[in-house]
Amino acid sequence: MSQFDEVIPRTGTNSEKWDGVEELFGRKDIIPMWVADMDFRAPKPVLDAFQRQIDHGIFGYSAKSESLVDAVINWNKEQHQFEIDPSTLFFNGAVVPTISLAIRSLTNKGDAVLMVSPIYPPFFNVTKATERKVVMSPLIYENHQYRIDFNDLEERMKTENIKLFLLCNPQNPGGRCFTKEELNQLAKLCEKYQIPVVSDEIHADLVMKNHKHVPLMVAAPFYSDQIITLMAATKTFNLAAIKASYYIITNKDYQDKFAAEQKYATTNDLNVFGIVGTEAAYRGGADWLNELKDYIYSNFEYVKDMLEKEVPEVGITDLEATYLMWLDCRALPKGEKAIYADLIDAGVGVQMGSGFGYSGKGFVRLNIACPKETLEKGVKLLIKGLKK
Ligand SMILES: Cc1ncc(COP(=O)(O)O)c(C=O)c1O
Repeated sequence: MSQFDEVIPRTGTNSEKWDGVEELFGRKDIIPMWVADMDFRAPKPVLDAFQRQIDHGIFGYSAKSESLVDAVINWNKEQHQFEIDPSTLFFNGAVVPTISLAIRSLTNKGDAVLMVSPIYPPFFNVTKATERKVVMSPLIYENHQYRIDFNDLEERMKTENIKLFLLCNPQNPGGRCFTKEELNQLAKLCEKYQIPVVSDEIHADLVMKNHKHVPLMVAAPFYSDQIITLMAATKTFNLAAIKASYYIITNKDYQDKFAAEQKYATTNDLNVFGIVGTEAAYRGGADWLNELKDYIYSNFEYVKDMLEKEVPEVGITDLEATYLMWLDCRALPKGEKAIYADLIDAGVGVQMGSGFGYSGKGFVRLNIACPKETLEKGVKLLIKGLKK
């Protein structure tokens, strides 16, 4: 038995994923397989660190420590062979606010911001909200996997006066873990058109067997002064609630621009749980993470087998990274709206592909980071809804 087999009820715990189902799907008895958090308890060293803080009982203003910086640097060196100079490392409450900070720091209103599609929705929502122009380059879907259409990307760079590229690697949705060669090619294109890159690598640690996350700054050292890397321990260790993330900028001019913009945003304080949670996870969470990745991959294999047997028209995207399956439902004899309604009717809550940009249309995103017991129930309902 794995520690991840334990079913921990989350209803009534202020959980967006579980307590938000009635508002989102219109009924309470839904198995939620949507928003990207996991139904697993965080690693014991993290819980112990939180407990020590609670036992202390004072929750005044917090200050991050040298040892947090040290833990971040060591983790990235060991896990990703990514050497971070402490003078280039900055902290911020969460990754999405840092995407907004980056857009506001590096572009002006009306500027064009390029991204691939489908993509994690805040990429285009934040771009729009900050009054920049969204430019999307559709990924090519082939042999159950996405790849970047470099010709299309270059065409847009050439013609659309792009001021910033937003990269999501590993990719959400679609679960791609881009190779060093692809990243290198991407950076060369950005260099050719003088476009800085924000590289959101929040899923870096959730990479499955036979794949390796390469930070963009490592894949393309020649361009590292035009790259801003965003990372966090929160996705890896199921700590989204503590709102803690960090970013790496080597370019002094960009550091100054971010600092100036931060003065308005004033979101750069980490809360005490963000500080101790991130450090404890990085110092003591590696074994938990290895077990987690095996568990997620066996969940993936289970869902794949079941769907291949029961609904063979559905294409299963390979899972190179993340715990988010991406189901190609375009061959089903019904459209997205009907699929969504049938799935809710069956009792499972998912996210539909077009929510991730127009090229996601016809796909379903399925969060499989839950105990086997929950997964089996959810998949049964999923099959029922898809077959209807
Ligand atoms: C690519 C990506 N970036 C950022 C986030 C959210 O990060 P945060 O909660 O730190 O804002 C997610 C959450 O799913 C994500 O998939």
